[in-house]
Amino acid sequence: MILKDIKFPIESFAQDVLEKISQEIQTTSEMTVLERKFLNGLLNYFRPRKILEVGVSAGGSSAIILNTIKNNEKAKLFSVDYSMSYYKDSSFDVGWKAKELFPDNQQWILKTGVDAAEVIEEIGSGIDFVLLDTVHRHPAETLSFISIFPYLSPHCVVVLHDINLFDPDLSEVNTAYATYATKILFDTITADKIIPAFDNNIYPNIGAFQINEDTLKYISDVLRSLYFPWGFQMDKRILNATEIIVKTKYSVEDFELFQKAITRMSELPLLYNSSIGSTGSTFFCRAAQKFITVGKFIYKRIISCHFGR
Ligand SMILES: C[S@@+](CC[C@H](N)C(=O)[O-])C[C@H]1O[C@@H](n2cnc3c(N)ncnc32)[C@H](O)[C@@H]1O
Repeated sequence: MILKDIKFPIESFAQDVLEKISQEIQTTSEMTVLERKFLNGLLNYFRPRKILEVGVSAGGSSAIILNTIKNNEKAKLFSVDYSMSYYKDSSFDVGWKAKELFPDNQQWILKTGVDAAEVIEEIGSGIDFVLLDTVHRHPAETLSFISIFPYLSPHCVVVLHDINLFDPDLSEVNTAYATYATKILFDTITADKIIPAFDNNIYPNIGAFQINEDTLKYISDVLRSLYFPWGFQMDKRILNATEIIVKTKYSVEDFELFQKAITRMSELPLLYNSSIGSTGSTFFCRAAQKFITVGKFIYKRIISCHFGR
């Protein structure tokens, strides 16, 4: 099935399926209700068999996925999280909520304490649906995508969460200013794209794309986007594991693009120093914007008093 053929709001599709767990995940899910509906709609429309989730947290999105595949015994979910414990409360394991809702689930393989680049060979090819939802600071999601791309099926659908998380007006969840990683990936990939029609907003916080024959042809654009100031210092372990994949699965030219970008961007300072913290940087940016707006207003008043304009 082709993503661009969808003629109805995908978030309204198969809502009855999501209803079965919506109460249970209400407090742990890191997606808004509309975003959950979008993910659920896509899963029910495409009915994928081999699903990869990168970024699990409590397991809110894992639970949505497991709920949609529970009657399709051929379907499997592979979930990967770099952390072993839940980042909001380290006394809980990553994925705890989904484990509670779907105990001993044979359709779920959860790998924690690892990056996708370290386990993708083991997971194997033929992945037909991906949810990518990790750090949101460039280049995190782009690196994950580069690692998994060679293992995707020809019409794989990829959902990216928090595409516009950096805009405080668009996100209920966070206002971290440097969180533009998923946006960079969404905007540089060549693929068929779908964005939900939430509130007629043309820049919602979630989106999906379906890869096609042009995706590989223009994949260098994604590698080139690594040469853009980073908002996050990637672990050497992740960089090394990704490098092996690029060296073995991409062209010589792409490998060169990758190496140059990684070497240079690892040396440069982060675009927004993460030590300021997301709240601090947002506060600073907002204060600067207010300062400029007030300045412009005063300037206009002075001009109009002096020149009657
Ligand atoms: C925003 S949360 C995921 C939310 C989850 N998808 C949901 O909707 O309920 C981000 C998660 O990504 C994990 N993470 C960070 N870097 C990662 C990486 N390189 N690979 C996999 N997971 C990563 C974090 O440990 C955290 O649990």
